[in-house]
Amino acid sequence: MAEKERLILAYSGGLDTSVLVHWLSAEKGFDVITATADVGQPCNFHEIKEKALLCGATNAEVIDARLEFVNEYVIPALWANALYEGEYPLATALARPLIAKIQVELAHKHKAKFLAHGCTAKGNDQVRFEVAIRALDPSLKVLAPMREWKMTRAQEIEYAKEKGIPVPVTMESPYSVDENLWGRSCECGVLEDPWHEPPADTFEWTALPESGPDEAEYIEIGFERGMPVTLDGKKSDIVSLIETLNRRAGKHGVGRIDLVEDRVVGIKSREIYEAPAAIVLITAHRDLERLTLPYDCLNTKWLLEKEVSRIAYDGLWFSPLNEAIEAFNSVIQENVNGVVRVKLYKGNVKVVGRKSPNSLYDRSLATYEGKDAFEHDASSGFIKLWGLPLEIWARRNKKEKQ
Ligand code: ARG
Repeated sequence: MAEKERLILAYSGGLDTSVLVHWLSAEKGFDVITATADVGQPCNFHEIKEKALLCGATNAEVIDARLEFVNEYVIPALWANALYEGEYPLATALARPLIAKIQVELAHKHKAKFLAHGCTAKGNDQVRFEVAIRALDPSLKVLAPMREWKMTRAQEIEYAKEKGIPVPVTMESPYSVDENLWGRSCECGVLEDPWHEPPADTFEWTALPESGPDEAEYIEIGFERGMPVTLDGKKSDIVSLIETLNRRAGKHGVGRIDLVEDRVVGIKSREIYEAPAAIVLITAHRDLERLTLPYDCLNTKWLLEKEVSRIAYDGLWFSPLNEAIEAFNSVIQENVNGVVRVKLYKGNVKVVGRKSPNSLYDRSLATYEGKDAFEHDASSGFIKLWGLPLEIWARRNKKEKQ
């Protein structure tokens, strides 16, 4: 008998990918190995592993990828203050290239020629998985069974029951949810109507802003080279720092986002995000950059920030452009050290203070009080030359019109 072809399936433990494990092994004859990445989603990974094996996987790999996720994906995105279309901190988009990379590594380890994912034909994630895989190892073949699949959700549940695949009660949730350390994405159900206010059951990480605590909460976030390293003066490892901020800011209803966005595949979709830590950190980080970076660097950086959001959203993470922008940001971040004080209150996060050993703010130059160090006499000469081109233009045009 010919040996079975080996395949690495990106596995979340949910209904779609569980049905896929069974279908790819029992119906398609693959030797299926599942790949599950822990990127901070609240899951029981032991149960996920058991479930994969129960569904017919010959091996179920669970990789703790939280640190890699933060260091290699979240931090570069934070350096870029990356918000897709000005709003979405890209949690789902940032995790996809990492999961693809893990799949590729497992394919090499297990000598598999095939990879598979459970994405549908209408989403961004299929693009991100497949483009990332091609960038990392173009010799691997990618299957996307859900794309060709004609099974409805009801048929999937039927299939699962027939084959003894456990269907969790949470499957009855009307939403499609994706979670990791950087945020939670929720779509489908009533949310498909962009006029419909998201019902309370859309949210899990954040309190209803108007019923948040009546007392504002202050947090001091310390940055070194653009990386958050302390909370209220206490050192914290980066994973727990993000977890703590998700909790503390979520309690105040900070980080709720309701966005009609443009998908890579050309359609608009309505998505609800919860990203308390991401919003607080981006707000604080962006503010500290204003204190510590010269204007021309900021200005160039702002242009590149938009590029990074697009690159991440569009699945081009492993691109030379992304690498080059990251290198730029990494140099720039040398100066981004200091502490930012934020105030959380009923859905809002506001920066109320900032300080830095690299601060470019010079009070003796900026002050309006008493004696200052600014050379007042220098201004008039400066303005003469600064306005000279406009003056020449105005004189010339005035003459012509006369
Ligand atoms: N629209 C977001 C993105 O493309 C999130 C998609 C997440 N998936 C989900 N099932 N909610 O990055």
